[in-house]
Amino acid sequence: MAFYVLRGRVMIEKGPAGVTTTRFTWIERSGHWLIAVSFVMLGTTGLNILYGRYVLKPLIGADAFAAMTYYGKYLDHFLFFAFMAGLVMIFVMWVSHNIPSRIDIAWIMKAGALFSKNVHSDSRKFNAGQKIVFWAVIAGGISVSVSGWSLLFLFTIHFFSGTFEIVNAVLGTQLPTDLAPIHEQQLAQGWHAIMALGLTCMVLTHIYIGSVGMEGAFDAMGSGEVDLNWAKEHHNLWVEEVQAREVESGAGQPTE
Ligand code: HEM
Repeated sequence: MAFYVLRGRVMIEKGPAGVTTTRFTWIERSGHWLIAVSFVMLGTTGLNILYGRYVLKPLIGADAFAAMTYYGKYLDHFLFFAFMAGLVMIFVMWVSHNIPSRIDIAWIMKAGALFSKNVHSDSRKFNAGQKIVFWAVIAGGISVSVSGWSLLFLFTIHFFSGTFEIVNAVLGTQLPTDLAPIHEQQLAQGWHAIMALGLTCMVLTHIYIGSVGMEGAFDAMGSGEVDLNWAKEHHNLWVEEVQAREVESGAGQPTE
């Protein structure tokens, strides 16, 4: 791999095709796949609970639908913990790479150079679009988990009264703060469905981009190794950081 220094920055020359770099370690990929597989299954069982009676029941019959929904509900109850574990893992591993920075504003202004071949957007490990996905998954994941917890362990969590108190104090609204436990449960049910549907729509777009939508992207979460030229094109500053670390540790081959 060839390096040169330009105005104090370590630059990487475009290398030959076929050279790869490690984008995600096995532990990062394990966290991602834990949340990915559990979310897809939770989303499927959740959509079945919401819409299965209209879409599936007429097709497969009442008995098959009842059995599927019954077991789906139990699957949902156990996968819930896998989802939360995956959420904690990706938060801990990636939060430092997802702190918003000035580069993100430039990335958004150029719309990630999506619509023009001659515009280049700088990006570290995650670009601004990915940071939005990350924070939406974390915020939405926490919200869907807390509301899911209160549906799983009935009448144990009453978070709407407290949340409404804060909202009233901040926005001057008059939301009810002395909710009966049954009202808390009803609100949790509605909120859980809204958050889960919102997350599902966003994650479907993410899955499309991460699989067939962007050539070369899947390798990052598959083997963890991506084509070096792909990495330079999409995450140039991150490649520079990685290569600079390699130069420091003596693993790279700097050139004049
Ligand atoms: C099941 C199919 C999925 C595929 C094929 C997929 C693919 C990918 C790929 C390729 C990346 C790395 C992109 C890069 O190298 O920069 C990634 C990152 C990520 N994935 Fe997934 N993913 C899937 C499901 C999910 C699900 C269900 C969630 C969360 C509920 C999720 C959350 C994330 C997050 C937070 C990141 C880091 C930020 C980002 O790249 O947007 N993924 N995914």
